[in-house]
This record gives sequence, structure tokens and C-alpha cells, in this order.
Amino acid sequence: MRMYDIIMKKRNGHELSEEEISFAVQGFTDGSIPDYQISALMMAVYFQGMNEKETIALTMAMAHSGDLLDLSAVEGIKVDKHSTGGVGDKTSLVVGPMVAALGVPVAKMSGRGLGHTGGTIDKLESISGFQTTLSTENFIENVNKIHMSIVGQTANLAPADKKLYALRDVTATVDNLSLIASSIMSKKIASGADAIVLDVKTGSGAFMKTEKDAIDLAREMVKIGTGAGKDTIAVVSNMDQPLGNMVGNALEVKEAVETLNGNGPEDLMELSYVLGAYMLIAAGKADSLEEGMEKLRETIENKSALNKFREFIEAQGGDGAVVENTDLLPKASIVMDIISEEAGFIKRIDTSEIGMVSLILGGGRETKDSEIDLSVGIELKKKIGDRIEKEEVIATIYANDLERLKAARERLDLAYEISVTPVNKQQLVKWVISKNGAKKY
Ligand code: URA
Repeated sequence: MRMYDIIMKKRNGHELSEEEISFAVQGFTDGSIPDYQISALMMAVYFQGMNEKETIALTMAMAHSGDLLDLSAVEGIKVDKHSTGGVGDKTSLVVGPMVAALGVPVAKMSGRGLGHTGGTIDKLESISGFQTTLSTENFIENVNKIHMSIVGQTANLAPADKKLYALRDVTATVDNLSLIASSIMSKKIASGADAIVLDVKTGSGAFMKTEKDAIDLAREMVKIGTGAGKDTIAVVSNMDQPLGNMVGNALEVKEAVETLNGNGPEDLMELSYVLGAYMLIAAGKADSLEEGMEKLRETIENKSALNKFREFIEAQGGDGAVVENTDLLPKASIVMDIISEEAGFIKRIDTSEIGMVSLILGGGRETKDSEIDLSVGIELKKKIGDRIEKEEVIATIYANDLERLKAARERLDLAYEISVTPVNKQQLVKWVISKNGAKKY
């Protein structure tokens, strides 16, 4: 078999066989096929697409490109949650402690930022001392002891995805349905959870810009998960504006702590309750969405979720005192309010631009090896549908560098559209997709 022929076959719009896909994935993983040939194949896939059979073959080849994590030593039904990538999305930091406080084992492998979107691992690293790399033994021990551990993708868990993820990030081949579905599901299959709750984002800050594409992606992932013997459900949620008010690593941890303290923004709270309730149902700890949500609400009211977050941080070497004092998180040296030049109602927020502003400030990677600045970001003071007066603060920028601040500011101005007539608030949770089909929420 020759890689050249495989690239040409896909470029010309033909279906690849399981053997051809497996040959490419294995060769990429062991280094015998170079980055440039895989990049060319990814671009061919981007334009020609992959059918369901090919997507499943790619998922399975990547899932089996390294070790499969054996979680049989963890008691109970292990439920994982994964988002397709958003801006300001810190739900894992809220949902994880809530469901773990109710005894559901959360054994989660998370990612770093991808493109304009943030990643849970980068966010957690803004907590002083926090370790995102643990041995498998420690990881399992923590889940058994405190019901929660979140680590980065280990070197040998779906290593083909790890390499491909980094390559796609710099070759403009992230936002393709088959590539996203296989990337996420290969990790979920390799990391040993019994059930998976997926949060598929749609809108200007998502990789899937339209609701139809998001539903198609959700259906594909549910099919792959179910086919692999995992109880899988997907929620399609709105990413036409950032989730919550904070965008940026330490700022998002701060907002997660406030949320666990009962002072979170409404949208973050709502999505956390919905995703958490589906996790409880999958774990056999709730019979309905309403019952699940009620149980989760109690974990906020009685502070058991906040206490769980502290336990989790300390078990991974971090400074648990941040749950009482978020001033312990890294802080930017420059804080600048952005003032609205007109009065009206917020009509549109270009959410991928907000993600790019955070990246420009230093909060995301420009190259594979960039060091990121954990303290920078944006605080949104207004969301879609809100009234704004002339000269009222629309957003606050947190920065450490004047040049970057200037570039970020120019870009932020262009991300908002204000209307003189009232604008409706946006619906957050739109669809629920299970193996039985798609249902409006
Ligand atoms: N998250 C992933 O893990 N992979 C993708 O391709 C997109 C989001």
C-alpha cells in the first residue's frame, strides 16, 4: 500500500477502505508516514468528506493506536462528558464536582485549547501546583477515593489523535464533521468510560456553525459510541455567544468557583444542570431530567460540589484555598473597560472573534509550542438581548502587554453588533440526540 495512492483516492472523492485508513493511522503514529502526507490527506478529507463507514474505521484505528485504559478497578458506572469546543465553556469544572459529590465516578481526560476554543487542561493549570499528568494508578486511586480526576491525554492514549489534533490545529482542518467525531470518540472509547454525555456546540463560536451540522455531528458520535457499547447521548447547545461571562483560563476558573458557590451566570448554571442530569441518568442515579437537576441543585446549595472541587484540586497537588479566595489565581496587570459608543440592545456577538481576542492577549497557542498566559482574557458585561446605554461598559479586557491589548481591543470592537430595537434572548439547549433519534429540548 502507498500513502500517495490513498491521498489521491480521497482527493478524487472515493471511499477509503478500512485497511487503507488503518495503514495511514498506523504509519502516522509510528512516524513512517510524514506530517505532510497526513496533512494532505486531512485536507482531502476536509473537502471530500468521509462516509459513516470511513468515520467509524478512522475512530477505531485511532482508539487502538495506543493503550486502552482499563477502568474496571473503578467502582460504579463511569460517565464521561465531552464538549466539541466552545468559548468560555467551563462546564466540566462545574459538572464534574456536582456529579462526583453525588457519588458518580468522573474519570476524565481533557484537552488543551484548540483553535479559538479553550481547553479544560489549560484552565486547571492556572491553579497553583495543580498536576494535569498523573500515573494511571494515581488517576484510578483518586477516582475511587474522591470520585473525580481530570488529566490531560496521556502520551499513549489514542496517540494518533494526539498527533492529528496538533496537526489539524495548524493546517485549517479542524472543522470537519468526520474529523471531529473520530477525534472525540477515539479518546472516549480508549479512555474506558461506560457512558458518554456529549455537548455539541453550534453557532458563531463553534466548529459547527449551523444547527443542522451540529445535529449531524451529534448523530454520528452517538452512533459511534452506541456501536462501541457505550451508552451515549448528545445535547446540542448554543455557542452564538460565550458561555457565562468570563473567557480566559484563570478567569474561567474564577467563574467556575463562583458558580459552585451559587453565584454563577444563568446560562452556565442551566447547561451544567442539563449535562449533569444526563450524567446522573446514565449512572443510574436519577430517573428523569427533573430529578437529576434537583439533586444537582442541592449540591450547590449544601456546598458539597464546592467542597468536592477543593478535594479534587488538592488530590492533584493544587492549592485548594482558591475555592475560598480566587485572588490566589494569576492576575493580569492591565484591566481596561470597553465602553459602548451607542445605546441599544446587543444583537450579535461574534464568538469565535472573542476566542481570537483571548488568543491574541496570549491566552491560547499561536504555534504548537507557545507558552500561554493564564491570567489574560475578557469579561463580558452584556450578552445577546441585554440593553446597553451609551458609554456603559460592554466588556473588560485583562491583559499584560500593551501591544497585544491594542490589537485585542480593535478586534473586540468588531465582534459586537448593537440594534436599536429589542432583541430576544437566545435559547441555550436546543436538541437532545440519543440512539432513538433527535428531539427538540
Ligand atoms: N475536541 C476534540 O477532542 N477534537 C476535535 O476535533 C474537536 C474538539
